[in-house]
Amino acid sequence: MAYSWFKAFHIIGIVVWFAGLFYLVRLFIYHVEAEQEPEPARTILKNQYQIMELRLYRIITTPGMIVTVAMAIGLLSTEPEVLKQSWLHFKLLFVAILLAYHHYCGRLMKKLAKDECRWSGQQLRALNEAPTVMLVVIVLLAVFKNNLPTDITAWGIFGLIIFMAVTIQLYAKKRKRDKEQLMAQISQVPQEQS
Ligand code: HEM
Repeated sequence: MAYSWFKAFHIIGIVVWFAGLFYLVRLFIYHVEAEQEPEPARTILKNQYQIMELRLYRIITTPGMIVTVAMAIGLLSTEPEVLKQSWLHFKLLFVAILLAYHHYCGRLMKKLAKDECRWSGQQLRALNEAPTVMLVVIVLLAVFKNNLPTDITAWGIFGLIIFMAVTIQLYAKKRKRDKEQLMAQISQVPQEQS
């Protein structure tokens, strides 16, 4: 019974953690792109994003991570023999990368607050795909365990995920280009009229 409780809250923790990780980097994108706005909008937006990022990181993302890990420890202490299974070793490798990503997001947040972040909006969009890959791999390992499928269906799903990630990147690029063209057209109108 305890095992099921730990597993239920392990999954709840994962949902909260990932909601935080996904939204955090999206806020970083808005934060970086606010640099292109004229004053005073730029300062107001940057200050607002900074507050939102800090609250999201402290109140949602980090507690989500703590619940996930604490419940995982609960699962392992209830059934320690799981520790000998190879799927868990692979899973722990990806979880370690995810924890490093979480920590790196915290560092990026501090750099943004000090105006020292060198990432562009486009690079941050690409970075925001990393937890998606991590999520897919870790959940597949947790569900299929040592019987992870390697057949055509599995590769099809993998290909679809890559296709979706690339499409999102290309669409974001197109939207940015369209916006720049529109801004250029708008700035030309008063000159033509005068
Ligand atoms: C601190 C690192 C973690 C450890 C030690 C750990 C360990 C475990 C264990 C022992 C189970 C129970 C397996 C079972 O009884 O079937 C489990 C379930 C699960 N874990 Fe984790 N986990 C960790 C982090 C994560 C993360 C980060 C995710 C998601 C990204 C995740 C996703 C899942 C899922 C979806 C299940 C349910 C699998 C099922 O019932 O079929 N885990 N985890």
